[in-house]
Amino acid sequence: MCGIFGCIVKDGNAAPVIHAALKRLEYRGYDSVGEATLHESSLHIKKDQGKIDEVHKIHNLDDLPGNIGIGHTRWATHGAPLQVNAHPHLDCDGQIAIVHNGIIENFSELKQELENLGHVFKSKTDTEVIVHLIEHVWKTKPSLSLADAVLEAVKRLEGSYAIAVISPKEPNKIVCARYESPLVVGVNENAVYCASDIPAFLPLTNKAVIINDGELVILSPQGYEIRKIADSSLVTREPKILDWTPEMAVKQGYPHFMLKEIHEQPATLRNTLRLQEHYLDLMTTFLDRAHEVFLVACGTSYHACLAASYMFSKLAFLATYPIIASEFMEQHGKSVNIDSTILAVSQSGETADTLAAVNCARQRAATILGLTNVIGSTLTRISRVYIGQQSGPEIGVAATKTFTSQLSVLSQLALRLAKKRGKISQDEMDFLAEKMENLPDVVDEIIQTQEEKVKQIAKKYKDAKTFFFLGRGISTATAYEGRLKLMEIAYVPAIAFPAGESKHGPISLIEPGFPVVFICPKDDTHKTLIGNIMEMKARGASIIAIMEEGDEEIKKLADDYVEIPKGVPEVLSPIPYIIPLQLLAYYMAIERGHNPDTPRNLAKSVTVK
Ligand code: AGP
Repeated sequence: MCGIFGCIVKDGNAAPVIHAALKRLEYRGYDSVGEATLHESSLHIKKDQGKIDEVHKIHNLDDLPGNIGIGHTRWATHGAPLQVNAHPHLDCDGQIAIVHNGIIENFSELKQELENLGHVFKSKTDTEVIVHLIEHVWKTKPSLSLADAVLEAVKRLEGSYAIAVISPKEPNKIVCARYESPLVVGVNENAVYCASDIPAFLPLTNKAVIINDGELVILSPQGYEIRKIADSSLVTREPKILDWTPEMAVKQGYPHFMLKEIHEQPATLRNTLRLQEHYLDLMTTFLDRAHEVFLVACGTSYHACLAASYMFSKLAFLATYPIIASEFMEQHGKSVNIDSTILAVSQSGETADTLAAVNCARQRAATILGLTNVIGSTLTRISRVYIGQQSGPEIGVAATKTFTSQLSVLSQLALRLAKKRGKISQDEMDFLAEKMENLPDVVDEIIQTQEEKVKQIAKKYKDAKTFFFLGRGISTATAYEGRLKLMEIAYVPAIAFPAGESKHGPISLIEPGFPVVFICPKDDTHKTLIGNIMEMKARGASIIAIMEEGDEEIKKLADDYVEIPKGVPEVLSPIPYIIPLQLLAYYMAIERGHNPDTPRNLAKSVTVK
């Protein structure tokens, strides 16, 4: 997730307006920043890696001439956070500048095609192919306007984009276009703006025009013109008057970042389905060759590893060992060796315990693989191969969207490994791939249809002294994660363990009204789990079931239940089944008067051991 901005101002320079707007978009990404303005038939550019304030201190982002310009604050997905990869990007002749938010899935083949045509690329980004594509169209059809060249070029793109383009050849225009990445236009009597999100221009105007997928917008000193990309037909749309405060706008109207990020998961899951095949295949090769694989992480990322161990085993028949990072050295420090492979999972890529475990393994010549949300983090620098999960910045301390993204990437790796090892048929492969593609819609349906029910459950149990979270098989990982969320956000002591363990001790805690959350998809464990539910119910527990919709067997045993759409394969079930538990933690925190975004005693990234 990055932030783009552009403006045409009637009086004064565009650069300070762009700089201030990028600061307001900083929550969308902040590892690099850049601006480009037009003045006296030339482009003026400043860009570098680093946070906005750092780059401004070095380059003075306000000091660019011209009343029209574009800007970008980056969350790296393709290409490390380096000056050369910062936006804006230029065509070969430096006559077109572009900023982009999104992921171009077919950028490799487009890049090859354009290089064969003689285009020279400077960066490792997917974005740069767009500006060379526009250049190519415009050079082959010089009679086209910039807008028509952009319109033709974006038809070649697969994936998501929100772009803003300027050129000295049409010095009073900004051309924008969007598909599956947000884009809004702001207008007032002094200027016209385009941005990834409303906070960028809200202090300047509350008149906003939402741009829809498949639309192109031409900004000029006269205002804005919207066209459909498909057929270039004009679209008439009046500005809406917004009544948001700037603080509300940064949260897109949600009361807390945590709730916004829970709701973002359909979009972030779509982004993890746009990973570059090359990196997935490369990591799959390393996993396939591995003698032994340790999945090393902390907290929520460890729960993703726990779920992944079931995925790798059930799909690829590969035994992997999920290890809590702080225990790795004690448990395996002496045995890890050149034949070991470590897949370290860390949203921040900076968790001290995880890095310590990785460094211990590196010193013993193990192969290091990494899965992280932060390109350029320490984990990416010490991994032989890494994958960026492309979730965008997660502001809430609780890991929510980054957890489901981790699971999505890990399940894709397990599926590829299964295919490489010939462990599943092409039909099974196609079936699971299709189910994976459907997951964003499944998660969206859960949020739309079950959130209110979870809110009621939180009200009913808000004073509960503790909770059990139980599951079997892969749902054990979901249970552990649901427990962590409730503990860290609502400060409710909770216990999670495999449901089969109840009779080996924990069931002694049960008394009438004791809330027990069961994660019970209709998988191989369903029948046994019903027995576990009944043993709890017999002792007066209150049963809260996260179950498949229409599961009458569970419904009649449950005091409360949340329904998950049918047909989710067992190995993918943690992704949808965790959603109600994320919402439960959030609404329990609200009921108990806590701020879910800033839970006490916790930091977003634990960089101390
Ligand atoms: C998750 O909600 C917690 N904030 C915490 O457990 C977190 O998952 C853990 O600290 C690991 O962080 P990482 O993924 O950045 O390594």
